[in-house]
Amino acid sequence: MDVAPSKTLSGSATTEAIPMNGGDGRNSYANNSSLQRFVVDRSKSMIDEAIANYLDIGICPSSDTFRIADLGCSVGPNTFIAMQNIIEAIDLKYRKYGSSPEYHVYFNDHASNDFNTLFVSLPPEKRYFAAGVPGSFHTRLFPKGSLHVAHSSTSLQWLSQVPKEVLDINSPAYNRGRIHYPNAKHQVVEAYSAQYTKDMDAFLYARAEEVVCGGLVVLIVPVVPDETSPSQSRVESLYDILGSCLLDMVKTSPIDILNASECC
Ligand SMILES: C[S@@+](CC[C@H](N)C(=O)[O-])C[C@H]1O[C@@H](n2cnc3c(N)ncnc32)[C@H](O)[C@@H]1O
Repeated sequence: MDVAPSKTLSGSATTEAIPMNGGDGRNSYANNSSLQRFVVDRSKSMIDEAIANYLDIGICPSSDTFRIADLGCSVGPNTFIAMQNIIEAIDLKYRKYGSSPEYHVYFNDHASNDFNTLFVSLPPEKRYFAAGVPGSFHTRLFPKGSLHVAHSSTSLQWLSQVPKEVLDINSPAYNRGRIHYPNAKHQVVEAYSAQYTKDMDAFLYARAEEVVCGGLVVLIVPVVPDETSPSQSRVESLYDILGSCLLDMVKTSPIDILNASECC
């Protein structure tokens, strides 16, 4: 998924975050994120194992505060489930030594995310202090060496911006107003791939500064196997259909064609 640039036909793509639908209504993210919930549930056992085998609890004596960040948290409820799962697994490890630290959970998303809904729906039985951290996870968000666990689930597939070349009518990577790359020229796929590489570099450099030595970074990212071409991927084909629906909608309304066709 891309973050849509504003006013782009002529080139200069300034990044503008498109948040998930806020609130708790019929069309809200909170009520339309069962696929992401499935991913949180399915990854639980792997995260439990990683915490049991790789997390060094010596990084945080039980008298200190254990700090966890969820990067790209949206509005819940999945983030609450993910954080609870992680805390239970860490607690299990500490309990062997008869103690348990206090937990501080940082919920991060773009500033335009509906943090109000997130905070009013925090589980009353939660066992952590909660804080919101607005900003892009492609930048530094926390002080050096301040996090013990950084987690991100189904969020890192978002690009920081639409690659400029795919919007440039004079570029071999021009994508003809489409929102994704199945069935596109290889130059288009390469432009998206290069943007993703840049974004992942930025993400990993930031976390390398923020996470303490011996801490854990847990990344759950939707992927397709190397040998699968974009047009063979069922999910990516869905984006092609979605893109063509959006273009049809644009043709019947006065919306700026590029803003509408690049919003996913
Ligand atoms: C599909 S939602 C996943 C939310 C949640 N992790 C879950 O499992 O339900 C992706 C979230 O990532 C956020 N996101 C995308 N790019 C981001 C960035 N650069 N920095 C912070 N959050 C970002 C979006 O705003 C969105 O809320």
